[in-house]
Amino acid sequence: MENTIKALKNRSFLKLLDYTPEEISALIEFASLLKQQKKAGIPHRICEGKQIALVFEKTSTRTRCAFEVAAHDLGMSTTYLDPDASQIGKKESIADTARVLGRMYDCIEYRGFGQEIVEELSAKSGVPVYNGLTNEFHPTQILADFLTIKEHFGTLEGINFVYMGDARYNMGNSLMVGCAKMGMNFTACAPEKYFPDKELVAKCREIAKETGATLTFETDPQKAVANAHVIYTDVWVSMGEPAEVWKERINDLLPYQVNETLMSNARKDTVFMHCLPAFHDLNTGVGKQVGEQFGLDALEVTDAVFESDASIVFDEAENRMHTIKAVIAATVGNF
Ligand code: CP
Ligand code: NVA
Repeated sequence: MENTIKALKNRSFLKLLDYTPEEISALIEFASLLKQQKKAGIPHRICEGKQIALVFEKTSTRTRCAFEVAAHDLGMSTTYLDPDASQIGKKESIADTARVLGRMYDCIEYRGFGQEIVEELSAKSGVPVYNGLTNEFHPTQILADFLTIKEHFGTLEGINFVYMGDARYNMGNSLMVGCAKMGMNFTACAPEKYFPDKELVAKCREIAKETGATLTFETDPQKAVANAHVIYTDVWVSMGEPAEVWKERINDLLPYQVNETLMSNARKDTVFMHCLPAFHDLNTGVGKQVGEQFGLDALEVTDAVFESDASIVFDEAENRMHTIKAVIAATVGNF
């Protein structure tokens, strides 16, 4: 692991497609080590004196907090630029912003819209850039998800992973790539129009030939979960999408809601995962409004499943911090 981690110095982390299975494994293992050190109170200020810019063009709880806590544990200073506080894209181009931030910071996190933005930031800034979520990919989330699965099942290889819902967006795409890379059996379950982009599927099929992973696209929820170790879902309407799409999404995706009937058709040891935030009850502004409008008490997952023993969503959320820490430490650490 050590040599693989050291070789990641100065690399950006933009999408899992850029990383080998060995590198992904090493990051997960490194995160696990950093997690043990944190729990044991052992300091690991591997990036002492370094600076990170946290650029958010969309809102966040987990990703922002994970980057801030991880950076502070590593001995770094942080600057947070919120969705309205920077000139990015409004009064200053991405290329110019990248060159400014690259002069002041050792690394940059970016959350926002198109993948091309984070790719350009990386190309022009001259420092490692981390993708904190784009429309297309959410790679730091997948590291946390896979650390969580490894902690739970002891392995990634051979795990039957079922993603329910809109599989065309950042979570479906990144999970499919991650599963292909790590030799897992990935199933996307949704109506056909929500299946991932064909070009990305073709890339993943090529990767799967090397790793032994399988890729399945299924429209029948009961069939999809029959032997699932993991059932995963995400919100039906993502950040940046217009509120008008709720009606169509609910119509299309309600049969794919993760509920107790679906869970009972899987294995006895099946776990439920979600990147969060989740609409599992009416205790949120959006959940209440949409739920009341459509006569539902939950959207992508029911409260019973979310709160059940099978749900490991808060382990997953905690692991965002340990895995993000591994990425920062590997790429800008003072080794
Ligand atoms: N899962 C995730 O990225 O959460 P936030 O949107 O709160 O960062
Ligand atoms: N698909 C969701 C993921 C949130 C972590 C979104 O983009 O809003």
